[in-house]
Amino acid sequence: MTAPYSLLVLPGDGIGPEVMAEVVKVIDWFQANRGMSFDVSHDLVGGSAYDKHGVPLADETMAKAQQVDAVLLGAVGGPKYDDLDFSLKPERGLLRLRKEMDLFANLRPAQCFDALADFSSLKREVVTGLDILIVRELTSGIYFGEPRGIHDDNNTPENEGGRVGINTQRYTSGEIRRVARSAFELAKRRGNRVCSMEKANVMESGILWREEVQWVHDNEYPDVELSHMYADNGAMQLVRNPRQFDVIVTDNLFGDLLSDAAAMLTGSLGMLPSASLGAPMENGRPKALYEPVHGSAPDIAGQGKANPIACILSFAMALRYSFDQGDAAAELERAVEKVLADGARTADLMGPGGGTPVSTSEMGDRIVAALSTRT
Ligand code: IPM
Ligand code: MG
Repeated sequence: MTAPYSLLVLPGDGIGPEVMAEVVKVIDWFQANRGMSFDVSHDLVGGSAYDKHGVPLADETMAKAQQVDAVLLGAVGGPKYDDLDFSLKPERGLLRLRKEMDLFANLRPAQCFDALADFSSLKREVVTGLDILIVRELTSGIYFGEPRGIHDDNNTPENEGGRVGINTQRYTSGEIRRVARSAFELAKRRGNRVCSMEKANVMESGILWREEVQWVHDNEYPDVELSHMYADNGAMQLVRNPRQFDVIVTDNLFGDLLSDAAAMLTGSLGMLPSASLGAPMENGRPKALYEPVHGSAPDIAGQGKANPIACILSFAMALRYSFDQGDAAAELERAVEKVLADGARTADLMGPGGGTPVSTSEMGDRIVAALSTRT
């Protein structure tokens, strides 16, 4: 037995609790079969936290998140909370976790499982074997920059309505350098190529981004291949020829957009995991939060239709990046691949080629069964 790993499970809203229930089955399997021990606590985030505490993340939950080895999050948000004050919206809970844990590097891998290549909106030959990693800066940029807000402005004929909405894109060189280092480190363990994306043609923050990424490359990672691309061209290249990329590093907002586009290349948003990593803690592990890229999908919540794979693969990333259990992570990823190859399909994956329709919990059970047949 290794020392217990502490996990804070925050299922959140919508389909979050359903998909997280399947992750808990997987955690139990690894405890029972792989000599690992997890100390798991559960808490609320997003709308569910608002319903109980009147805020989307209680201070006690925030404090717990700072102490555990890793946070596992489902999804936040739902139409029920649309009219809440901005500061109370479910998303603010997630953004507070990211900011206060200083999770600056968001890893969003987009891999195309062979069994799903026909689900992509692109042709099979364009996506077969796709394996790219988007590293999105997660704690700065326009998501957090000041000044921000909606203010009264002169109500003049030129500004009918009389208000102004402001957000600020702001990056320091230190913020750019640290996420660039994450990208170069990850590239060394993969295809050794980094493509950095910004809008240096229109934004000063983009010019700084380009210069600082180049600086980190020249001074610290000269052996990794680095290229730069304007983010709009990057979006086009992602759908034109996605396999040209290995690691993409980009800012918070461009990373949000590009990662949704990349996710869809793989066939379904229901497949994509993510890891958000910060600086190492005292025990040497990085501060970490793992969550699926998909949202809370309120339209299908509670119906057993959600695909738990993105959340399960997020736990595989936790095994790899927080607990140094790369073999266990690969074992879990292979189990997912096998279940897909055998034809199990949640509603989001029904389409070309048919397959066996399964519910959220059946998908989880099959993945656990596939793990067991490999023991
Ligand atoms: C994501 C989501 C979030 C974001 C929302 C829920 C705040 O879209 O993780 O990509 O914009 O970062
Ligand atoms: Mg997003």
